[in-house]
Amino acid sequence: MAKVLKLFTYPDPLLKEISKEVTDFSKELKSLTDDMFKTMYENSGIGLAAPQVGILKRIVVIDLQEDDKKVPLIFINPQIIEACGSTTFEEGCLSVPGYHEVVKRKKDITVKFQDLEGKEQVINATGLLAICLQHEIDHLNGILFVDQISQLKKGFFKKWFKKNHSE
Ligand code: NI
Repeated sequence: MAKVLKLFTYPDPLLKEISKEVTDFSKELKSLTDDMFKTMYENSGIGLAAPQVGILKRIVVIDLQEDDKKVPLIFINPQIIEACGSTTFEEGCLSVPGYHEVVKRKKDITVKFQDLEGKEQVINATGLLAICLQHEIDHLNGILFVDQISQLKKGFFKKWFKKNHSE
């Protein structure tokens, strides 16, 4: 049975770490992605990267749940090999609960990745999937969406965080 994992949230230093390449494509990898999906659905997210549950491995799961249709996608060792255009979207993150901000991203991307069997795959992504993939791949490199906003907005974020997390 898949289990709900503990989410690591800002400003946990683990979220700033660079995740390691996956080389072991055994059954444990599948069971970890099952747990990641369960954790993501439980928290009403559309994407989750392994470091967000404290595992520094290059694993991303995504399910945009558009039209209430579940299409679970798994990306092992994803890498953006082409990117063009630009777009903006108001993003949120399970590691920064309660905060939303507009982030500028590439509009269309091509991503090389491996599937659960270790087979190489390539996907062309646009729209919400492209945005979500860029957000999640950033997590693998220790970058949060609040690192991708302007200095001014970062100031707003820091103030917001202080106000909402002061004990
Ligand atoms: Ni996130």
